[in-house]
Amino acid sequence: MKSSILVTGGAGYIGSHTAVSLAKAGFRVVLLDNFSNSDFQAVQGVRSLINAEVPFYEVDCRDTDGLFDVFRIEKEKGHVIKGVIHFAALKSVGESVENPELYKDNNILGTERLLEVMRAFDVENLVFSSSCTVYGEPEVVPVDENAPFLEAESPYGFTKQACERLIVNHLTRNPKFNAVILRYFNPIGAHPSAVIGESPRGVPNNLIPYLCQSVAGIRGALHVFGTDYPTPDGSCIRDYLHVMDLAEAHVAALEFLFKDKLRDKDTGWRAYNLGTGKGASVLEVIQAFEKVTGLEVPYSIAERREGDVVAIWANASRAKDELGWQTKRSLEEALNDSWRWQKKRPDSQ
Ligand code: NAD
Ligand code: WQD
Repeated sequence: MKSSILVTGGAGYIGSHTAVSLAKAGFRVVLLDNFSNSDFQAVQGVRSLINAEVPFYEVDCRDTDGLFDVFRIEKEKGHVIKGVIHFAALKSVGESVENPELYKDNNILGTERLLEVMRAFDVENLVFSSSCTVYGEPEVVPVDENAPFLEAESPYGFTKQACERLIVNHLTRNPKFNAVILRYFNPIGAHPSAVIGESPRGVPNNLIPYLCQSVAGIRGALHVFGTDYPTPDGSCIRDYLHVMDLAEAHVAALEFLFKDKLRDKDTGWRAYNLGTGKGASVLEVIQAFEKVTGLEVPYSIAERREGDVVAIWANASRAKDELGWQTKRSLEEALNDSWRWQKKRPDSQ
């Protein structure tokens, strides 16, 4: 029988794409979400791409009883959940500054409760969504997994650092538990079918959704936040990776856990950077978008955005060496898929 994997935040951007890759790799996916930043359309999208039964539970990760029911109901149906990929979290840096308590409650308590319920059901394998934000402004780039956690740039970043620590502490008390912590750089793009993609609510904070909405005429010109940084063209540098590459990394991480690779090691956990290993500046992203789509990006140079890291990209060689994963898709392909998704969205009319 196929192993069942619970995907928390499964209606979200990365969770929905990962669900599709998991199903393609032969896993049975169970989705959970509270729709705080998504809607049922994504679940329908996943179902149509997988073309199979995909159970969905509208549950909040802070709701212990609700979580308990998910594991119990699945078990009663004969599907013991073998692993969990925990995406569910709030992720807006700006909102976290305005409401840090909400972020602590949602992200940290949600993770704590999930760990408790996993323990009650003897579920031993966890893949956790962390972020390059745990490194803050790194002293050395490309940044590898041994780089220290610097002071978090935002309450959101703090929750990711805290959840990583929570998981490691949980492990010390639960020797059979195994966790892979994945630190994503900047995921962009969409499923090539354009059936699922990123659906930010309101005005997007992130570069690619804003850029696409500017080109679609939904927003005004894109503001390039600063061209006076100490980088070759003056704009900030990031490591943008295709969300389908990122989705496939989760499959590799789970397969790694299921082959008991971590048990050979003492700690029971391992962290991996997920990125392309190459940085691109904001102005380079604009150029790449224009080249691949043939469209002009309306943009203007604006003030620096407070709190922005100047330049960060990944050393992702650990993921390559140990998980056998590396990115396959180019920046252009990712931008083209983002644009294809934008054109299909209802608000793009
Ligand atoms: P997203 O907002 O699209 O998906 C997160 C999903 O979790 C949403 O569907 C939301 O409704 C759900 N959710 C939030 N809190 C919940 C709760 N308490 N209970 C149940 N469901 C809840 O975001 P995403 O981009 O898909 O991010 C997924 C994960 O990856 C998050 O943990 C995020 O912090 C992390 N991450 C994202 C990025 C990025 O740039 N997108 C980068 C690094 C890390
Ligand atoms: C990318 C670049 C902006 C918008 C955020 C989170 C981080 C992680 C990834 C979750 C920057 C510039 C942006 C715009 C612009 N998420 N920009 N005009 O800042 O790398 O990180 O997402 O863990 O925690 O902080 O991503 O897409 O917001 O910005 O010029 O309208 O684009 O200054 O250089 P960022 P981003």
